[in-house]
Amino acid sequence: MHIKILVILLFTVSIIPGCYYDSEDNLYPSTACNSTNVSFANDIQPILANACNNCHNSSSTIGAGIVLVGHAAVLPYATSGSLVGSVKHTGSYSAMPKNASKLDDCKIAKLESWVLAGSPNN
Ligand code: HEC
Repeated sequence: MHIKILVILLFTVSIIPGCYYDSEDNLYPSTACNSTNVSFANDIQPILANACNNCHNSSSTIGAGIVLVGHAAVLPYATSGSLVGSVKHTGSYSAMPKNASKLDDCKIAKLESWVLAGSPNN
């Protein structure tokens, strides 16, 4: 009798960890890309600051006069399609960031999503 209870107990304990991977962190890892409701100030400008602004700033002589600091300055490139085209390496646009590896998929998705949302100053 005691053995039976022990066996049932052991079996029960052994199946509990089976549910471990159902936890939220594993189903929705925090590293997943969230490219919805992209903010210019919190998402876009930091991406540009990190990968583009060393060339594309108002005092640079190596950014072809293209300034990508501040919403008003970025807007024309967003609406013309050159911002997304250059980072996606599509169309006849110059591939950006120049002489460096392509941005990761999540950053490209955020840029594209922000442009598709109408390039808001948010
Ligand atoms: C090493 C300097 C450098 C970096 C870094 C850089 N650019 Fe450029 N960018 C240039 C130059 C120079 C041009 C002019 C065209 C050319 O020479 O390819 C240019 C052109 C552009 C253009 C116009 C493209 C066209 O064909 O009309 C856009 C848009 C642009 N860059 C966006 C970006 C973005 C976005 C980033 C960051 C992801 C970036 N650039 C990073 C130097 C740079």
